[in-house]
Amino acid sequence: MKRYVMLAAAALVLAAPAARAQGTVSVLCSVQLEWCQAVSAEFTRLTGIRVAMVNKGSGETFAQLKAEAANPKTDLWFGGTGDPHLQAAEENLTEVYKSPRMGDLHPWAVKQAEDSGFKTVGIYAGALGFGYNPELGKKKNIALPKCWSDLLNPALKGDIQVANPASSGTAYTMIATLVQVMGEDKAFDYMKRLHPNIGAYTRSGVAPIKAAARGETLVSISFIHDGVTEAKAGFPMATATPCEGTGYEVGSISIVKGARNLDAARKMVDWALSVEGQSHMPKAGAFQVPSNRNAPLPPEAPKLSEIKLIAYDFKKYGSSAERRRLLDKWEKEVNSLPR
Ligand code: F6P
Repeated sequence: MKRYVMLAAAALVLAAPAARAQGTVSVLCSVQLEWCQAVSAEFTRLTGIRVAMVNKGSGETFAQLKAEAANPKTDLWFGGTGDPHLQAAEENLTEVYKSPRMGDLHPWAVKQAEDSGFKTVGIYAGALGFGYNPELGKKKNIALPKCWSDLLNPALKGDIQVANPASSGTAYTMIATLVQVMGEDKAFDYMKRLHPNIGAYTRSGVAPIKAAARGETLVSISFIHDGVTEAKAGFPMATATPCEGTGYEVGSISIVKGARNLDAARKMVDWALSVEGQSHMPKAGAFQVPSNRNAPLPPEAPKLSEIKLIAYDFKKYGSSAERRRLLDKWEKEVNSLPR
């Protein structure tokens, strides 16, 4: 279930246009709720700028920005998978900004900026894989899946969750990954065969791994850093990355075209790319790889260098035409099938 957070004080300020011009930033936040809340509180503490924050999935945020394009109500899009940020850049929904922090970033974060004409930039990265509840697995006598092919096991009928790719960037990353790993025909054939094993296509990308952690489903298709969050919170949780290879995200940040609070939005980007802005991630339960080369990688965070990552083609799968085409095809050929 998606979570909405409106900081009460900021909401009051939003209702008063004069006050808004003096230090409020309106943010759509596509990372997990706890991190969104920490971002708001910390940024306000440091700068005095109030944050009006709504928490929404990557695909949903993209759709909202598109719907609002003629009269933007949002200043900044914080986090969420990189593909829809690239699509937003291509559709001219976001603003060019070259942060002075750019020189401190890993090459993959800078590449995201270059691919978008500097309308977005990477703030973190994370690999796609499986979440699994070991206690439930023991009861059901089903082992942790290690490969994409393991998810087709008929014993997993109804026992896997993944999000709906229209609302969730995580699930779109899964489609784009499978197409790159298997080729398009085989990937769609695979997703059709996987469909009966899917108990629910959730709206939010993190919901499936939360469900696995709480014993509501055995397996989830998720970013594996979200498994660290659940394990740290004390839930039974194991993760794996598929033996055939897997995709990853470059979580991004973009300023909305026509932002009414442009200076505040730029300040937030600079802070989000800084060591200070990224060091508080683990405290907020976020274990992605930070994009600032000098930000510490928490010891529990998955190490991308130890995972069989594909050479994910962000430019292609973040393009407007390709994302729309794959989502339409999934809806027509996979989601419409009976389960
Ligand atoms: O915040 C956790 C996270 O997995 C991020 O790493 C990712 O960018 C985001 O969720 C994606 O959320 P959704 O799939 O709902 O768009």
